[in-house]
Amino acid sequence: MQTDQILSCTKKRLFVWLSVALGLTIMLLSYGNLNYNMSLPHFMTNQFAKDTGVKTNGKTSEPMSRENATYDGVTARYLEELSRFYAVQEADCSRLFSGDKNYTEEVVQMVPTLNESLSDEYYMNLTEDCEAFRRTRGYVMSSLTDEEREFPIAFSIVAFKNSEMVERLLRAIYRPQNYYCIHVDVKASNGFLRAISAVAQCFPNVFLPLNRLKVTWGTFSVLESELSCMRELGRYKKWKYFINLTGQEFPLKTNFELVKILKSYNGANNIEGVLKRANQYRWKNKPPPFGLRPVKGSVHITASRFFIDYILHNDTAEAVLNWTRTILIPDEAYFSTLNYNPELGIRGTYNGNPDGMYAFLTRFKIWSPYKPWCPGHAVRWVCIQSTPDLPRLGQAKHLFANKFYLEEDRVVIGCLEEKLSNDTRDEYMGIKAFNDTYYRNLIFVKNQIL
Ligand SMILES: *[C@@H]1O[C@H](CO)[C@@H](O)[C@H](O)[C@H]1NC(C)=O
Ligand SMILES: *[C@@H]1O[C@H](CO)[C@@H](O)[C@H](O)[C@H]1NC(C)=O
Ligand SMILES: *[C@@H]1O[C@H](CO)[C@@H](O)[C@H](O)[C@H]1NC(C)=O
Ligand SMILES: *[C@@H]1O[C@H](CO)[C@@H](O)[C@H](O)[C@H]1NC(C)=O
Ligand SMILES: *[C@@H]1O[C@H](CO)[C@@H](O)[C@H](O)[C@H]1NC(C)=O
Ligand SMILES: *[C@@H]1O[C@H](CO)[C@@H](O)[C@H](O)[C@H]1NC(C)=O
Ligand SMILES: *[C@@H]1O[C@H](CO)[C@@H](O)[C@H](O)[C@H]1NC(C)=O
Ligand SMILES: *[C@@H]1O[C@H](CO)[C@@H](O)[C@H](O)[C@H]1NC(C)=O
Ligand SMILES: *[C@@H]1O[C@H](CO)[C@@H](O)[C@H](O)[C@H]1NC(C)=O
Repeated sequence: MQTDQILSCTKKRLFVWLSVALGLTIMLLSYGNLNYNMSLPHFMTNQFAKDTGVKTNGKTSEPMSRENATYDGVTARYLEELSRFYAVQEADCSRLFSGDKNYTEEVVQMVPTLNESLSDEYYMNLTEDCEAFRRTRGYVMSSLTDEEREFPIAFSIVAFKNSEMVERLLRAIYRPQNYYCIHVDVKASNGFLRAISAVAQCFPNVFLPLNRLKVTWGTFSVLESELSCMRELGRYKKWKYFINLTGQEFPLKTNFELVKILKSYNGANNIEGVLKRANQYRWKNKPPPFGLRPVKGSVHITASRFFIDYILHNDTAEAVLNWTRTILIPDEAYFSTLNYNPELGIRGTYNGNPDGMYAFLTRFKIWSPYKPWCPGHAVRWVCIQSTPDLPRLGQAKHLFANKFYLEEDRVVIGCLEEKLSNDTRDEYMGIKAFNDTYYRNLIFVKNQIL
């Protein structure tokens, strides 16, 4: 407990310091060699510099345009360099995404030999120089498009092991305009906590909640840890949507695409719910307050700012929360019960019965241990995504996928990173467009309380 307090205290001071320092400090940047002998450009754009608090050495931006996009040539070149940096050396990801069976088989044989994860100590060492850390690890320190800059997203991440996987998740979703709260379980090792805290301290918009809790599945502690991150994130006024993740998940969409999708949601929440098939015994003889109907959900939510503010500040939400303290598996009932009781009139919630509404896009997750649905293996019925899953991961409409074991398969994560990096580059330069028609027409968007 004391270590926690010291850490969060240090963290707080560092945050204040960094916020001020970002505006004022002149950091001398010399983009040198990355892993894979990659050189990043020595120059940067003004906006890039503004976002990162970095001096540009007098270099100005290079406005360019292609098709429908006006973009900055220097940033574009940086993104091109980054996409080469992210390119997987050991495999041809495009062939894997296209579903080339023989080639996939070949790569699957090689995967187990690529199993060394970066250690907690590696992160402790590298983050001693935060600027070197961000550069060496290839972070995108610009919000890139105006649209993304004006639409920040808040993420909460629950993590307990494998600092490299958690750091790569953070890196994949990191943008300077977003907010990140990482809840490290008290069961986690001290080394893991120190590594994740050290990473967080390299960014003004990444933090650990002040209260760390021991999270035990099926108990109120799951919901409590989530709420502690939510409360911390709630202090920042700018973000528009909230997404919660575990440290073993990975994005299937770029930040640009997430913004397009969340804008298409138009304030609606995407939260799972079932009425008929709900496990009624969990709340037997314990009806929710105000005659609400209890609804079972899942642990993955995409929720609007309005909904999160309601949860943090409205008495009705607090009364429902008090009810969940009395039932089994509270975290699977709280958000869904609030989202599927239209008489509460909460903006963005669903105006109807969740049964038969299968448009749950928050997570791509396969509930089967059997081939062909699960080419790898499953843990407690959830398929662990592996290299042969890349074709379906590449095509899924979902925002994130669950779940990955980096220590077993580094290629699947490497290829997702390569694709995200390519798409980020191409979307920035206007080479690749994003069609949001599908998302705008989803039933929970059309049928929300306005
Ligand atoms: C894939 O492997 C099978 C069996 O080894 C072989 O018969 C087939 O020709 C291969 N296909 C391609 C496209 O190489
Ligand atoms: C990685 O895999 C190789 C070959 O399967 C094995 O010898 C080695 O012990 C593994 N290393 C780790 C850290 O699991
Ligand atoms: C971290 O730094 C220490 C001291 O410089 C060094 O002995 C150790 O090998 C480094 N560890 C890693 C994983 O880089
Ligand atoms: C929720 O429970 C707490 C503690 O028992 C109590 O103080 C509070 O008034 C309750 N809130 C509502 C809205 O019922
Ligand atoms: C996401 O939030 C929901 C609602 O509070 C919670 O039940 C769930 O445990 C959270 N999921 C994760 C992965 O933290
Ligand atoms: C709290 O929620 C209830 C039900 O959704 C609503 O009627 C009430 O106006 C809300 N209270 C505040 C202070 O917003
Ligand atoms: C990423 O782009 C490079 C060329 O810019 C290409 O060679 C590679 O196949 C692409 N990878 C994916 C997964 O799209
Ligand atoms: C550019 O805009 C035109 C017309 O709006 C559209 O047809 C085309 O697909 C767009 N191209 C890209 C790459 O966005
Ligand atoms: C976007 O996708 C929809 C189908 O989902 C299609 O009808 C429409 O033509 C597409 N729009 C563009 C500009 O490609």
